[in-house]
Amino acid sequence: NTSGKAVTCWAAIAWKKISPLSIEEVQVEPPKAGEVHIKMISSGICGSDDHVLKGTFPVKFPLIPGHEGAGIVESIGDKVSSVKPGDKVLTLIIPQCRECNSCLHCKGNFCEKQDVLPSSGLMLDGTSRFTCKGKSIYHSFRVSTFTEYSVVPEIAVAKIDDAAPLDKVCLISCGVPTGYGAAVQSAKVTPGSTCVIFGLGGVGSAIVMGCKASGASRIIGVDINEKKFSQARALGVTDCLNPRKLKKSVQEVVMEMMGVGVDFAFEAVGLVDTMTAAWESCNKSYGVCLIVGLASPESQLSLEAAKIITGKTLKGVCLGDYKTKDCIPQLVADYLQNKINIDPVVTHQLPFDQLHKALELYHAGEVIRCVLLF
Ligand code: APR
Ligand code: ZN
Repeated sequence: NTSGKAVTCWAAIAWKKISPLSIEEVQVEPPKAGEVHIKMISSGICGSDDHVLKGTFPVKFPLIPGHEGAGIVESIGDKVSSVKPGDKVLTLIIPQCRECNSCLHCKGNFCEKQDVLPSSGLMLDGTSRFTCKGKSIYHSFRVSTFTEYSVVPEIAVAKIDDAAPLDKVCLISCGVPTGYGAAVQSAKVTPGSTCVIFGLGGVGSAIVMGCKASGASRIIGVDINEKKFSQARALGVTDCLNPRKLKKSVQEVVMEMMGVGVDFAFEAVGLVDTMTAAWESCNKSYGVCLIVGLASPESQLSLEAAKIITGKTLKGVCLGDYKTKDCIPQLVADYLQNKINIDPVVTHQLPFDQLHKALELYHAGEVIRCVLLF
């Protein structure tokens, strides 16, 4: 029992941006009031982690990256009531405090206690629970997961079914709900509709699953990496486009294929060019464009202003519009009841000490999701 004591364990540290992660011995302080100490069992490697490590998304260094985690509660701080030691849990990059303006609103899910935009790298009390070689280490989005043990605010922890296989369900912490919810919950894709998805990584694959489950009749997948196409087709994509191999812009090609533009366009890359292309692929009168990818906060999106009046909708969505602590456990239950299938998205699993290999595979575009196992 580690309750009340600091734990020494292995964790990956990014000492600065664009530098290889180093696996170091770190000290993890016990949880304070309102915090949960988690023994990590698995973690996905998400596109947002890559933005962080590449330096395109601003965070503070040194930090322990990762946010798509599944684990078991090791101990709890004072006043924690929603989980107890031994519970299986997922980490929530967007928490649900149930008190802020966004949480109290019937639709809002971008909890004001989030630590993504902007990112302090610290717990809610403004301090860190990690030290390495005497140096304080920042948290990533308050849910660092590339570590054997982490401390996370209770509002960023969702208790899930005891039967959940932790080596897979970490994807239901972020990538799966982000994509699936964008299609079924935010866009509300309709039966017989046409869709285009830019980016066929972990998030884009979950969007495809959501479009398929909603009965879309045509699903166009766009990616510059053709290795993603076979998996995308297996999930329901009907047509694949590689923008680098087209003579015209991808939006022109989508327009020609559809005649009138798609009903629903999704961007799951995080670049302004693909956002513009998604917007311009939509039907001008009733098309809906959803921005799912996380862009660099310095970038600006510029659209032809006059064309907005024709009736299209541009919508942002984070974590599939789900109120996370309430809804994510239900998605795990849906998986256990075979209502959604995340297995095809888990294309690789590697032990945590092969993190570098996992990142290599990610960068080579060989994986949809590689899950790290602790
Ligand atoms: N056009 C089309 N596809 C692209 C382009 C481009 N210009 N650039 C990259 N891609 C593809 C990659 O080849 C990859 O298949 O986008 C995909 C991104 O997938 P992942 O790296 O697996 O990232 P993912 O976890 O799916 O996240 C995608 O959603 O939540 C956000 O921050 C996240 O911005 C990221 C996005
Ligand atoms: Zn809140």
